[in-house]
Amino acid sequence: MRIIFATGNPGKMKEVRMILADLNAEILSMKEAGIDIPIEEDGLTFEENAVIKARAVHSCVPDAIVLADDSGLEVDYLDRQPGVYSARYMGEDTPYEVKNAAIIRKLAGAAERERTARFVSAIAAALPDGSILTTEGVIEGVIAHEPAGDGGFGYDPIFYVPEFHATTAELTPEQKNAVSHRGKALRAMKNKLIRYFEVYDRDENTDRQ
Ligand code: IMP
Repeated sequence: MRIIFATGNPGKMKEVRMILADLNAEILSMKEAGIDIPIEEDGLTFEENAVIKARAVHSCVPDAIVLADDSGLEVDYLDRQPGVYSARYMGEDTPYEVKNAAIIRKLAGAAERERTARFVSAIAAALPDGSILTTEGVIEGVIAHEPAGDGGFGYDPIFYVPEFHATTAELTPEQKNAVSHRGKALRAMKNKLIRYFEVYDRDENTDRQ
């Protein structure tokens, strides 16, 4: 089984390989699969964007399973921004030190209970038979008063998880995968894929009898 994960983000690829390790599949990034196509993520929700990416890459490799994720940070005090624009927020090339400092500044007037935020991840799978499966995962937290930690990527240094007394940038990769939005969505997808192919195998065998 060949799975192509539609991302150019090495941080995500690392998380995905860890979580899908026990699937016994060959897991390739787009680059490793030799796919380099422009994809316009113009969906209005994480799920729409994940499906757009999965379908676009799948059109290049129709025999493979293509997984795509779309994820981002929703800050309640900012009307759930940056949301689907998380990567593009303040410009794609703006360093996260700058983006993170700006978000902290924007929350200067917020009460403690108004600092709630969440990471959301939607995963879409485009399968060789043309069908699409989707899952979603969420981790709830609050925006920290100052950045902390140098693990993870993106907004991790300002995303504080009260039950861990730490930001997601202070967690080990294993700890983060166990509780993260993408970890939850990917494990749900792994289970869906296993069920899907179990049914598929059963149907195939039934046909042969
Ligand atoms: P995507 O690659 O289009 O899904 O954009 C996701 C963006 O959301 C990333 O570039 C980050 O800005 C943010 N993001 C998503 N997941 C995480 C995470 O686990 N930690 C920190 N930032 C994240």
